[in-house]
Amino acid sequence: MSRKKKTGGWRRFQGEDFFLKKAQGRGLVSRAYFKLQELDAKFDLVKPRQGILELGAAPGGWVRYIEDKLSGHQNLYIAVDPSPFKSSGLAKVIRGKSNEPRVSEEIERILGSKKLDLVLSDMAPNISGVRIVDDSASRELAEDALNTAFKYLAPGGKMVAKLFQGSEAQSFTAVTKECFLKTVLFKPSASRSESREIFVVADGFKAGR
Ligand SMILES: C[S@@+](CC[C@H](N)C(=O)[O-])C[C@H]1O[C@@H](n2cnc3c(N)ncnc32)[C@H](O)[C@@H]1O
Repeated sequence: MSRKKKTGGWRRFQGEDFFLKKAQGRGLVSRAYFKLQELDAKFDLVKPRQGILELGAAPGGWVRYIEDKLSGHQNLYIAVDPSPFKSSGLAKVIRGKSNEPRVSEEIERILGSKKLDLVLSDMAPNISGVRIVDDSASRELAEDALNTAFKYLAPGGKMVAKLFQGSEAQSFTAVTKECFLKTVLFKPSASRSESREIFVVADGFKAGR
């Protein structure tokens, strides 16, 4: 192994070990908590008295971050996933998939006439190992998040959607640039360096377009 490779590997190991240890030390389910913490610090996402919808909430790292931050405040927070996850009770939990009609019906029942300020998606497909298949599945989930934003986001609202880096991410951001005032691609340092995940952060929803 070359010296360069060794150094890179060591750095990566140190970085991962840091977030893993930090998560374990705080009794967190995974490093995911720190990804949202970093996204929030950079893009000012999670705020009291706002309407938040999270897609792909299990096993609950982001739920824990949002509930920690919003504890004691009045918030409308809906969290969706087909798999189970823990909540302190602040989140209105919906078990199901983002594209299921009964999930939309439940979201509409909870929202009534209200609109959301933030749509978050950390949804990820089951990985097949075939890059083109996985990229397209991840793009589909990001499209689901965008469709959800179209239905429920208030003008000026924000959306964060995860997908895999590559041409799908580029073409997806071309779409979000049309529908939002600003779009940024961001990879938090808590995200594993070998993971191709990246977050599209879109701000300033142009409703009605
Ligand atoms: C990386 S995990 C999310 C981690 C979570 N943000 C956390 O902090 O613990 C991806 C999740 O996406 C969920 N998922 C995949 N497809 C989905 C869909 N169509 N609707 C809702 N959730 C979905 C999976 O069940 C899985 O729990």
